[in-house]
Amino acid sequence: MDDQAKKTALRGITYGLYVIGTKVGDEVNAFTGNWVTQASFTPPLVVIGVKNDTVSCGGIRESGVFSVNVLEAGQKDLAFSFFKPVSRVGNKFGDVEFYTSTTGSPILTASLSWFECKVVDVVERGDHIIFVGEVVDAGVHKTGEPLTLKETGLFYGG
Ligand SMILES: Cc1cc2nc3c(=O)[nH]c(=O)nc-3n(C[C@H](O)[C@H](O)[C@H](O)COP(=O)(O)O)c2cc1C
Repeated sequence: MDDQAKKTALRGITYGLYVIGTKVGDEVNAFTGNWVTQASFTPPLVVIGVKNDTVSCGGIRESGVFSVNVLEAGQKDLAFSFFKPVSRVGNKFGDVEFYTSTTGSPILTASLSWFECKVVDVVERGDHIIFVGEVVDAGVHKTGEPLTLKETGLFYGG
């Protein structure tokens, strides 16, 4: 395979950018990620790819739940607040307001909308663990255009 072609072609996949939350013991944690997609209508399933050595990955494995916060276009600062590993920067929430609903995963008050999932399957094949989540609760805070990965000028893929 042509490695450069693989990278270019995979970077042709267009993405949103989300804050994915979970429980870690009695605490909450969250990271910003773009590997998120819906994968079934009935039941409503969503697939996320989570780096296998992160605190969030361990949290999702142990708790079996996660939330996906849909950010609004322009909320780059909020996205950037959750890129760094909690092991390096400590609690990432700072003054970012959140609450919890059905699963206990963090829901950002500033997000456009959110859904939360119970993990129904796990695929362990690569450096990211694939969690298949069934959507068990959702809410809308406001209408607007969702943040895209393109808007940030960053890439995660290839
Ligand atoms: C543009 C961008 C997109 C990212 N997308 C993902 C992703 O989809 N899945 C993932 O596991 N990590 C992704 N990351 C990396 C996580 O944000 C990073 O590993 C995070 O610090 C993990 O947090 P934690 O250690 O507190 O769990 C992305 C990073 C960047 C810069």
